[in-house]
Amino acid sequence: MTAMLTSLHRSRDAVAPAMREAVQRLDPASRAQVSYHLGWCDVDGAPAEGGGGKAVRPALALLSAQAAGAPAEVGLPGAVAVEMVHNFSLLHDDLMDGDEERRHRRTVWAIWGAPAAILAGDALLALAQEVLLESPSPHAATAARLLATTTRELIRGQVQDLAFEHRRDVTLAECLDMAGGKTGSLLSASAAIGAVLAGAPEATVGALSVFGAQVGLAFQLVDDVLGIWGDPAVTGKSIFSDLRSRKKSLPVTYSVANCPELAEWLAAPGEPDDAQLRRGAELVEAGGGREWALAEARRRMALAEDALSAVDIPSQPREELIALGNFVVDRDS
Ligand code: IPE
Ligand code: IPE
Ligand code: MG
Ligand code: MG
Repeated sequence: MTAMLTSLHRSRDAVAPAMREAVQRLDPASRAQVSYHLGWCDVDGAPAEGGGGKAVRPALALLSAQAAGAPAEVGLPGAVAVEMVHNFSLLHDDLMDGDEERRHRRTVWAIWGAPAAILAGDALLALAQEVLLESPSPHAATAARLLATTTRELIRGQVQDLAFEHRRDVTLAECLDMAGGKTGSLLSASAAIGAVLAGAPEATVGALSVFGAQVGLAFQLVDDVLGIWGDPAVTGKSIFSDLRSRKKSLPVTYSVANCPELAEWLAAPGEPDDAQLRRGAELVEAGGGREWALAEARRRMALAEDALSAVDIPSQPREELIALGNFVVDRDS
């Protein structure tokens, strides 16, 4: 398994107390489901450890404040808020994607049903805005606006992701736009929100935002590769979920153009069985999608690094942001 970065451990430890305090405000049912989803307890409410996710977004938010020359704590309400929006999106995403496993455990909708997952997700989304607006920063409202527009962009990406399942003519440009929406937008906001709360100049916020958007595309490229060729024992998610739903993921969309057999495979009626899914994966590989996605992720990471060079950022947060981006590209879970 890829080694966890210090900045990820630090962000998890920094964010956990504020997350727990805020989650206490939820109604008892949502509180139990969200606590389970975040890995704090098992289905029956007994305390548990681990399984709460990698905490990439809060780590970006804390480094973002430091990149603006402020202490990491200035970014804390932003870090909590982006992690809540992320988890809102996962609660709904697993329901929409029909996935019964995440973070090595059964998903909330699979245990408690669709209405519970919808409400728990909604509750987290509202809580994210609440926490952010409680920040003592004079720029809290600007940060809350950023989070709201980001959520709208994330939803736009999710709408496209689902619509593309039923289309055969999705272009690579459309697919990149979709990934930029569903994943790039929140990574971008995470990398910028700490600097916004710190009142950083527009150029710094803009550079961090571009950095996060490029890291976000790299993130989704790798996520799509792991969804086909990753080890479910490591990713904690079921294998071939995207292929089963005929998702136009990035490697699939790239390969279709080079592999007419893959286009036929995607157009076949009914749900593919295990042998057909393995065949689908072979066809994506034959079309060059796996190799392209990994090279494109590295290229996006280089663009992310370039964006940071345009502004004056203290060396420690700059190096940690780059290390975090590289972790995203090299991860196996
Ligand atoms: C998964 O995100 C969803 C995507 C945007 C691809 P993460 O891989 O960051 O999920 P956790 O929080 O670490 O489980
Ligand atoms: C990622 O969705 C983006 C959001 C959840 C908003 P995916 O469906 O691609 O991610 P996984 O693979 O389920 O984590
Ligand atoms: Mg999904
Ligand atoms: Mg999805």
